[in-house]
Amino acid sequence: MATIIDGKKISTEIKDELKEQVKILKEKNIEVCLCVIQVGADPASTIYVNNKKKACEYVGIKSLSYELGEDTSQDELLELINKLNKQNDVHGILVQLPLPKHIDEDKIIDAISPNKDVDGFHPQSVGRLSIGKKGFVSCTPAGIVQLLKRYNISMEGKECVVVGRSNIVGKPMAMLMLRENATVTVCHSRTKNLSEVTRRADILIVAIGKPKFITNEHVKEGAVVIDVGMHRNENKKLCGDVDYDEVIDKVSAITPVPGGVGPMTIAMLMYNCVESALM
Ligand code: GUN
Repeated sequence: MATIIDGKKISTEIKDELKEQVKILKEKNIEVCLCVIQVGADPASTIYVNNKKKACEYVGIKSLSYELGEDTSQDELLELINKLNKQNDVHGILVQLPLPKHIDEDKIIDAISPNKDVDGFHPQSVGRLSIGKKGFVSCTPAGIVQLLKRYNISMEGKECVVVGRSNIVGKPMAMLMLRENATVTVCHSRTKNLSEVTRRADILIVAIGKPKFITNEHVKEGAVVIDVGMHRNENKKLCGDVDYDEVIDKVSAITPVPGGVGPMTIAMLMYNCVESALM
């Protein structure tokens, strides 16, 4: 029987640990504070932002919300970020992506102080991760490492295959697994004989953004499968990048969708905010 990796449970565990740390910081007169900036009113972004604010409330982190109009200029947004960069009582700055087309996302990410880059998207954070220095790590891959560790799934010496090479998940995931002494392969849309490569994986991380893309033929018997995808099928039911029902009898452990990787992303955002306040 496969282990169903319970991300909801582990994320609550982490948030409860953070709650304690936030309380201790409060006793030292440090109130952990995250600024959440949303430009425009994309409905999906509003749901994500609300979930982040709810998590802050649960953990005891103060969240300051900046809901800016769709027509906000790049300079106005940069000005707000510069102001928040200088405020000592602000520990994290998060600009919800995507931004409206007239704003250059890279310029905005670059403007956030690396000391407050709780998303881990700043080039300095990415660079520090790749040379093994301390810094903020992108929340989804950091959450996956926590899931594996808390289920006592060691990465050391294992064949780990990442499907997807995004800056937010695939690439930092590969770096984190290298740091854990795994042998890492990164696959993507141009990889030849994908199933041959993925079948080598002891641990298979899938972040390709295509519903039920990974099937029986891609998975080795007894593999651990981590599914980063989140899609709604024709019946409005949520599914991941992995065909769960097809692989469930073959794997040794798997994350479900929903309730697997998803809740971990926000838990790690809370973790990064607390780390920032501790710095
Ligand atoms: N949009 C979708 N996911 C994320 C995220 O993790 N951080 C930010 N800033 N924007 C997002």
